[in-house]
Amino acid sequence: MKQFATYAPLNTLAERLKPIHLNQLFADNPQRFAQFHCQMPGAMLDFSKQKITAEVLDGLVAMAEEAQLKTWIDRLLSGDELNHTEGRKAWHTALRDLSHPLPEVQEQWQKMAFIVDEMHQRQLRGFSGKPITDVINIGVGGSDLGPLMITHALEMQKHPDSPDIHFVSTLDGRQLQSLLAKLNQETTLFIVASKSFTTIDTLSLAETAKSWMKQKCASPQSRMRHFIGISASPDKMKEWGILPQMQLAFWDWVGGRFSLWSSIGLTIALQLGMEGFKQMLAGAHAADVHFKNTPLHENIPALMGLIGIWNTNFLNLAGQAILPYDSRLKHFAGYLEQLEMESNGKHTRRNGDFVDYRTCPILWGEVGPNAQHAFYQLLHQGTERVMSDFILFKEGQGQDERALYHQNLNIANCLAQSRAMMVGQQSDDAHKHYPGDQVSSTLLMTRVDAYHLGMLVAFYEHKVFTQSVIWEINPFDQWGVELGKKIALSILESIDRHDAAHLDQSTQGILQQIWEHNR
Ligand code: F6P
Repeated sequence: MKQFATYAPLNTLAERLKPIHLNQLFADNPQRFAQFHCQMPGAMLDFSKQKITAEVLDGLVAMAEEAQLKTWIDRLLSGDELNHTEGRKAWHTALRDLSHPLPEVQEQWQKMAFIVDEMHQRQLRGFSGKPITDVINIGVGGSDLGPLMITHALEMQKHPDSPDIHFVSTLDGRQLQSLLAKLNQETTLFIVASKSFTTIDTLSLAETAKSWMKQKCASPQSRMRHFIGISASPDKMKEWGILPQMQLAFWDWVGGRFSLWSSIGLTIALQLGMEGFKQMLAGAHAADVHFKNTPLHENIPALMGLIGIWNTNFLNLAGQAILPYDSRLKHFAGYLEQLEMESNGKHTRRNGDFVDYRTCPILWGEVGPNAQHAFYQLLHQGTERVMSDFILFKEGQGQDERALYHQNLNIANCLAQSRAMMVGQQSDDAHKHYPGDQVSSTLLMTRVDAYHLGMLVAFYEHKVFTQSVIWEINPFDQWGVELGKKIALSILESIDRHDAAHLDQSTQGILQQIWEHNR
């Protein structure tokens, strides 16, 4: 990052600000909230509890300008080939522009709408003629986390005719086995979701599902009517046996972790109806338009990204906590773990050089009220300095007395925690001393619905993109996951041959213990 002329002055500012407590920044500036929050319809970002000043903000925006962030945003949104290491566009934003849809995207919406309608009208029937009641999405990473996160969050907004939707991702097979033990072959449909259609996790589970179906249905043709395939590789889907009318497509220009907006979101559409799915797209598109058109000083996702850069590269914070104050966002942190760390957890610049600065911090999180009773101890008194994102929704779950009470309790707790992290508490008893000065932002969204969740996810996608531009890395590839996959295949061969002699001592030792136990 030293390549930027704006780096050195920001670094000087950081050294000056490091010893100044957040309390002091608030005391010095009665306009702090007014100055350091920004909004768009549906969302407000309060970053006044970050260790920044107007000068820092100007410096960060200048750095973004020096890195030509605006040009990069235009390139992203117009479908330029930004994923240069794989020779592809990264054009997920084209999936959510409802007023200018690409013909191929429109075609997939039609196919999805047809499946959703059939399912909701109980017209999609299994081999014995009974309507499908349960859908199991088999997929992993981007083919699982987005739909899982959204369908869980919007469970209460389920369409009355939605089937029951389940997610299976782990190759140990346990999730699938426990579901199959409860479900009936006649009324169960599988969605095999895999961009590549080569992922062993997904294909191994799909094969297990196939043999389960075979127990009750001898005809391959009838059996395969229980499998929908979603992939960017139609040939591989076909090869696996997915019937042509059961295939949904997306394209290599949609990255796996950016694919919930594509036909990978079929479970979302099944649960909410096509209208609900499109609401999610509309919310994300509103964030795209904001990202494109809003000056950087007021641009929510760009500021999220720049503040992250400030904390990581100038204030040297190594952790990012994600703290949604709504239990419906139970899977949100898991979703972001992939989005942020698979995108920006990299050490190579676009030009192939290794970076000599830090990139993506370790990100983790949990629903706030639960996290308070788990890892907040570290946030308040630990030795690691961490940045936190609090996510709060204005609207509660109802107007009755208890619902309002819970809503207020939730708001009070969210605000109490960010305030406690900021102000701390002096005490002569070291055990009761809280240093405070822990930075956080609060994203205040209107309500948990498809539109606002779409917007929230798109904010984080664009935060990631903003950071990738400053760090000069390609956020759209994931070479780092390949080595482990390759080694797993060779260890699997060793296990099959019962021969570990060529492996390292640790691997041999563990395998020997397993083999002895199971002899
Ligand atoms: O191994 C990582 C990864 O490629 C992710 O990027 C992706 O979301 C996941 O595996 C699943 O891939 P696919 O959808 O091709 O099965």
